[in-house]
Amino acid sequence: KAKAILFDLDGVLTDTSEYHYRAWKQLADEEGIPLTREENDAHLRGVGRRDSLMYIIRGRNYSEDQIQDMMKRKNDYYNKLIEQMSPKEVVAGGRELLQEIRQAGLKSAVASASKNCRIVLERLQIIDLFDGIADGNSVVNGKPAPDIFVFAAGLVNTSVIDCIGVEDADAGVEAIKTAGMYALGVGPKERFKRADKVVPTMENVRLKDILADA
Ligand code: BG6
Ligand code: MG
Repeated sequence: KAKAILFDLDGVLTDTSEYHYRAWKQLADEEGIPLTREENDAHLRGVGRRDSLMYIIRGRNYSEDQIQDMMKRKNDYYNKLIEQMSPKEVVAGGRELLQEIRQAGLKSAVASASKNCRIVLERLQIIDLFDGIADGNSVVNGKPAPDIFVFAAGLVNTSVIDCIGVEDADAGVEAIKTAGMYALGVGPKERFKRADKVVPTMENVRLKDILADA
């Protein structure tokens, strides 16, 4: 009965979540602030640029100018890392899955917190496979707020009840559940509190796997 599938981008359709982490790590190192992979997974994965920085610098005093500068530096590091991205970096079977969704007469959309979303979709050459793109410029309240998924559902004219959301971040699964959708989590089971179903990776996930008990 699902009519649309709404995909997070970073960490779901491609491994850019690793690049986001490396860029934050470089910034944190420069600022002498400790940041671990575990903290990244628990607090930064899927979370917007400013909210991520706020977590990293929590309890420290920085001016708004310094905050702006740090966000810019992180984004510059990230942009360097994605400069060489090519269609090869779409998760294995990802392009086939998007084509399969289209052939089945379902809608697909992206629901990403990233302002770099379109450039990544272009470099991966999958931008034309989506019926709607909601990105870091679309809504004010970031994940875990439901707004981006609700907005993406609207872009493809589908009620939230008929949407499946796909996310690698706990904040993203929270957003999907709060939006009233079925949530497919991508990653280790322990990462998610409210996912309806979890797969370890999107590699070679087919439409029938997604629809199985949705
Ligand atoms: C999400 C990423 O998709 O986008 C986060 O998972 C990132 O790591 C967020 O912070 C915002 O992205 P950007 O590219 O606008 O800084
Ligand atoms: Mg993600």
